[in-house]
Amino acid sequence: MLVTAGATREPLDPVRYLGNRSSGRMGFALAAAAREAGAEVVLVTGPAALATPRGVERVEVERAEQMHEAVMARIEGADLFIGAAAVADYRPAQEAPEKIKKGSGPLTLTLEPTPDILRAVAARRPRPFVVGFAAETTDLLEHARAKLRDKGLDLVAANRVGPGRGLEVERNSLEVLAAEGEPVSLPEQPKEDLARALIALVAERLEAGGRA
Ligand code: PMT
Repeated sequence: MLVTAGATREPLDPVRYLGNRSSGRMGFALAAAAREAGAEVVLVTGPAALATPRGVERVEVERAEQMHEAVMARIEGADLFIGAAAVADYRPAQEAPEKIKKGSGPLTLTLEPTPDILRAVAARRPRPFVVGFAAETTDLLEHARAKLRDKGLDLVAANRVGPGRGLEVERNSLEVLAAEGEPVSLPEQPKEDLARALIALVAERLEAGGRA
C-alpha cells in the first residue's frame, strides 16, 4: 500500500514557503498500523520530524508536484492508497529566484492549482482501493460526501480541523463514509489507535470484495 503524510511546502522564494500545520502524525500512524497488519508499506511524506515506522519504506518530498510524482511512480500494483497528507491546493505561480524584499505597500501573490494526487490515483484503471481524507472546519459530512463523490473514492475519513483540533495534536476522531450506508464514527483517541481502527475497517472492505 501507499500512504501520504504531512504537509507540502510550496516555495515563494529561496527562504519562504506556503504550508500548513499538518505534522504527519496521522499518516505515519496509518503506515505503522498497516505494517503491523502485514502490509508492505510505502510512506510518501512531506517534511516531518517523526521516526519512520519499522519496516516501512519512507520517501521524502517537499512540494505537491513532487508528492504527485513520487506517488505516481510507485502506485502500479498497489492494492490500497490512503491520502492522509495535507497537500497544498495552490502554489505560488512563480518562485522568486532571490529573497523577496520588503516594500512599503501590500504584496499580491498569484497562486495556481497543484495536481490533485488523490483524484489522479482514483482515476487509474485498474486502480487500488482509494481512501481519502477530508479536513473541514464546517459541515463535515456534507463536504466529505462531496469529496467522496467528486474524486471517485471508495472511502473518505472526515475530521474536523481548527485550533488544537485534527492537525498537530496527538488525538483525533474520524467519521468514515462510503458511497452506501451510514457513516462509521471512530471516537476521539490517540492517532495510533485511530489508525489501527481505520486500517481494520479498510481491511474488512478489501476482504469483502474491494470497492463500493
Ligand atoms: O498530520 P497531522 O498533524 O496528524 O494531521 C492529520 C490531518 C488533519 C492532516 C489528516 O487527518 C487529514 O485530514 N489529512 C488530509 C488533509 C487535507 O488536505 O484534506 P483536504 O480536505 O484538503 O483534501 C482532501 C483529500 O485530497 C486528502 O486526502 C488530501 O490528501 C487529498 N489531496 C488534496 C489536494 C491535492 N492537491 N492532492 C490531494 O491528494
